Amino acid sequence: MKLQIVFVALPFLLLLSLLPQHLADLNSDKQALLNFASIVPHGRKVNWNPATPVCTWVGINCTRNGSRVVAVRLPGVGLYGPIPANTLGKLDALTILSLRSNLLNGNIPTDILSLPSLHYLYLQHNFFSGSIPSSFPSQLIFLDLSFNSFIGNIPATVNNLTNLTSLNLQNNSLNGSISYLNLPRLKKLNLSYNHLNGSIPSALQKFSPSSFEGNLMLCGPPLNSCLSISPAPSPSSTDSTAPRGGSKKKLSTGAIIAIAIGGSAVLILLLVIVICCSKKKDGENSSGTKGKGGRSEKPKEEFGSGVQEAEKNKLVFFEGCSYNFDLEDLLRASAEVLGKGSYGTSYKAVLEEGVTVVVKRLREVAVGKREFEQQMENVGRVGPHPNVVPLRAYYYSKDERLLVYDYIASGSFSALLHGNRESGRTPPDWETRVKICLGTARGIAHIHYAGGGKFIHGNIKSSNVFLTQDLNGCVSDFGLTSLTVLPTVPTRSAGYRAPEVIESRKCTQKSDIYSFGVLLLEMLTGKSPVQSWGQDDVVDLPRWVQSVVREEWTSEVFDVELMRYQDIEEELVQMLQMAMACVAKVPDMRPTIGEIIRMIEDIRPSDSENRPSPSEGKSKGSNIETP
Ligand SMILES: *[C@@H]1O[C@H](CO)[C@@H](O)[C@H](O)[C@H]1NC(C)=O
Ligand SMILES: *[C@@H]1O[C@H](CO)[C@@H](O)[C@H](O)[C@H]1NC(C)=O
Ligand SMILES: *[C@@H]1O[C@H](CO)[C@@H](O)[C@H](O)[C@H]1NC(C)=O
Ligand SMILES: *[C@@H]1O[C@H](CO)[C@@H](O)[C@H](O)[C@H]1NC(C)=O
Ligand SMILES: *[C@@H]1O[C@H](CO)[C@@H](O)[C@H](O)[C@H]1NC(C)=O
Ligand SMILES: *[C@@H]1O[C@H](CO)[C@@H](O)[C@H](O)[C@H]1NC(C)=O
Ligand SMILES: *[C@@H]1O[C@H](CO)[C@@H](O)[C@H](O)[C@H]1NC(C)=O
Ligand SMILES: *[C@@H]1O[C@H](CO)[C@@H](O)[C@H](O)[C@H]1NC(C)=O
Repeated sequence: MKLQIVFVALPFLLLLSLLPQHLADLNSDKQALLNFASIVPHGRKVNWNPATPVCTWVGINCTRNGSRVVAVRLPGVGLYGPIPANTLGKLDALTILSLRSNLLNGNIPTDILSLPSLHYLYLQHNFFSGSIPSSFPSQLIFLDLSFNSFIGNIPATVNNLTNLTSLNLQNNSLNGSISYLNLPRLKKLNLSYNHLNGSIPSALQKFSPSSFEGNLMLCGPPLNSCLSISPAPSPSSTDSTAPRGGSKKKLSTGAIIAIAIGGSAVLILLLVIVICCSKKKDGENSSGTKGKGGRSEKPKEEFGSGVQEAEKNKLVFFEGCSYNFDLEDLLRASAEVLGKGSYGTSYKAVLEEGVTVVVKRLREVAVGKREFEQQMENVGRVGPHPNVVPLRAYYYSKDERLLVYDYIASGSFSALLHGNRESGRTPPDWETRVKICLGTARGIAHIHYAGGGKFIHGNIKSSNVFLTQDLNGCVSDFGLTSLTVLPTVPTRSAGYRAPEVIESRKCTQKSDIYSFGVLLLEMLTGKSPVQSWGQDDVVDLPRWVQSVVREEWTSEVFDVELMRYQDIEEELVQMLQMAMACVAKVPDMRPTIGEIIRMIEDIRPSDSENRPSPSEGKSKGSNIETP
């Protein structure tokens, strides 16, 4: 390629040396442009004819006396590939270069970055990659690199661009701190939708929050104030609500007691379930679960009472399900109550051939048969995924609605987090917690992206997240929200429900994100959002965290059980920041599940290549993780 250019250019150079200087310059501009057009594939609009004056070409402007090319504007003309060196970079009188909205990629060649009179550079909406160059023409006034794929830091050398009035870098993948940025003449700034972190420097605080949105780790005015792991306040600044122990990283004794008392009710319940499961189905363990239905003498009464005699074979299986039983088998199975949720009661049913499933009996259904079947079809269409507990079959009649799920023996995330806390258990470590949350996020992402953005989960909570054998998170209970009536009375899901859902009683993907944020807070704090663990029955975990963080006692927030691990403070804080972004009051401020996955992977990179256990899920689901 380069040789070619040389050969083409050589005769011109000889010729040019014989011409008056300004013509020489104009002809070299023309040649540079022709070289550019010959190397870079483009659409038909750019039909520069070498026989016509360069100043009349599409997208080209010259000085008034026609001596030099000063502007190249080629927006949206299908330019494709990298910008070759020694083409546009030769236009040394150029003041405006606009190549926005093309398909250009690679790096920006250095000769363009040292054009002596370039003032306006528009390269937005392309596929440029690599890091932002460390040197730009120092007289630059307008720089737009937004909507590309730049990575890495914003180089400190942009501070050299003292005449810059507009800087657009939104929708790239820039990371790191911006604390050193100082551009006094800047009138317009957009750094949105990158992965920048740390505090916003004072020189940039005059810009609106929308200049920074979508950088969930960025903080300080005009965004939320920065969190930090603060040292223990001096003994003089006591706070009666959170008396301190000897170590600054310990939760207050008050809080511990609160957890212990508040958590125990549900914990005992969950504990019992866990014990039941490990004891398989042998009889004597009649357990203190809801009601006394633990034993399986007459299990059919539990969930089959509404089944009409004539309909006993109407159990509808989903495609790809290898189970082989009918409703009658199911009704004959020995069953025990697993728990009562917002939508109904779940039973563990052990079928004769040793297959164990979970049967969920829906409490109240707001839709007719048609709609119910339609929704089930939707659920089926979402397809299998290693992080989603598969729904295998359903039954619908006037008086009875049953759903059949895989049974997952390792129990729920809720049980893992809160179970057996009082009696010297081995608590789940940080690694495990992050891994479970990441798996959960991937399951949610599968649901959110599978239906072209139409599907919601609607009931994300730690007791709906189950653990696979290799301790991955697996979400259950998907697709029920639109079928059932949201309970008006407070239920065990209430602590997870986004504020707008409480008002509108309508779930959205954004409300799923809120619930997931509460789940993250639950994981970080070790506190259950469905229990009244505070002094005045406060159930709102996000609000509690916010209040503690506002007091700058961030370390007080975290689960004592996490405080024994070294060198995770930063990860804890980053995860906390992300969780707080998820529980933002304004739904639109919450990140998407794809962004969340990316951030969790960033916070703890080693967890990104966890594969689901091969024993889980018979069919390999497509792994939709990011949009
Ligand atoms: C460029 O040329 C077009 C058409 O000749 C003209 O309308 C425009 O004002 C020129 N722009 C500059 C910056 O010279
Ligand atoms: C054309 O105008 C530019 C300023 O716009 C000037 O620098 C240059 O000398 C002029 N060239 C000729 C040949 O008049
Ligand atoms: C900034 O602009 C002023 C005039 O507007 C000019 O004198 C100065 O040289 C420019 N600075 C740089 C670094 O180009
Ligand atoms: C640009 O800034 C860097 C420091 O950020 C400095 O070392 C360098 O000399 C500056 N370059 C110019 C041309 O001013
Ligand atoms: C910019 O990024 C945000 C967040 O990822 C996204 O919602 C928006 O669609 C992006 N804009 C474009 C044009 O890609
Ligand atoms: C920023 O991203 C680059 C490449 O993706 C990575 O090498 C670097 O460590 C990151 N830096 C920070 C501060 O996150
Ligand atoms: C930003 O993120 C990087 C990498 O995750 C980390 O090393 C750095 O300390 C963070 N900076 C701030 C100010 O949080
Ligand atoms: C910055 O860019 C984002 C994403 O394109 C946009 O939503 C926001 O309004 C922009 N803000 C400003 C101040 O231009």
